[in-house]
Amino acid sequence: MQYAVIIPAAGSGKRMNAGKNKLFLTVQDVPVIIHTLQVFETDSLCKAIYLSINPAERESFELLIKQYKIKKIKAMVAGGKERQESVYQALKAVNEADIVLVHDGARPFIRHSTIRHLVEKADESKAAIVAVPVKDTVKRVENGQITETVERSSLWAAQTPQAFHMSILKKAYELAERDSFFGTDDASLVERLGVPVAIVEGQYDNIKLTTKEDLYFAEAILNNRLSTPEG
Ligand code: CTP
Ligand code: MG
Repeated sequence: MQYAVIIPAAGSGKRMNAGKNKLFLTVQDVPVIIHTLQVFETDSLCKAIYLSINPAERESFELLIKQYKIKKIKAMVAGGKERQESVYQALKAVNEADIVLVHDGARPFIRHSTIRHLVEKADESKAAIVAVPVKDTVKRVENGQITETVERSSLWAAQTPQAFHMSILKKAYELAERDSFFGTDDASLVERLGVPVAIVEGQYDNIKLTTKEDLYFAEAILNNRLSTPEG
C-alpha cells in the first residue's frame, strides 16, 4: 500500500532559540529537514512528498533539495501561522492518494519499519498514529498542588507520523476549519469525527527536535543508528 506524506516545515523553531528555523540546523553535518526527507525518499512505499514551508525560506529549501537529490517532492506550499494551517495547505495540494501520512519535519529518526506497521494499520482501520507508552508518572497540578496522579497504564505519548485515509483527513480538516477547532495533532481532528484512531507502538528515539538539548540527543541517536542500522 503506497502513501503520500505531508511534512510541515514552516515553523520558526522558537523554543530551539537558534535564530533561524531549527530544520536548517545540522546533525552530523546534514540539515535536520534533509534527514527527515531522506527517510521518505528511500521508502519504497512513499510515492509523493508534500512540504509546507515559510515562503521566505523557499530558496534555502530548494537549494538543499537539489543538493541532496530529493526527487519525490510533488509540491512545496506556503504554510500558515499554526502547524495545523500548514498541514491543511499541503493537504489541499494532495491528489491521488488513498493513504496520507503527516510527519513533522523536526522528527528525523522515524524508521521504515515503524512507517510500514503504521501504513498497514491505517489501511485496515482508516486512521492510526505512532505513539509510545508514557514512562514518567504523570500528575495533574492546579495552583502548584497535585490534584491527581493519572493512571499511567492507559497513557501514551503521541508522535508522528500519523496516517489516515485521505477522505477522512480532508473531512476532519474541513470540519475543524468550520468550527475553528485547533488541535495539537492531526489525530485530534479525526477523533472529533468519532472515527476510531488506532495506535502503533513506535520507538522512544523518534524524538521531535524542540529545544537545544535535543541536538545532543540527536547526535547520540544518529551515532547509535550508524553502528546498528535497520533494514
Ligand atoms: N510547523 C509548521 N508550521 C507552523 C508551525 C510548525 O509547518 N506554523 C512545523 C514545524 O516546522 C515542525 C513541526 O510543524 O516541523 C512541529 O512543530 P514544532 O516542533 O512546534 O516546530 P516549531 O513550531 O518550528 O517550533 P516552536 O514551536 O518552538 O516555535
Ligand atoms: Mg510549534
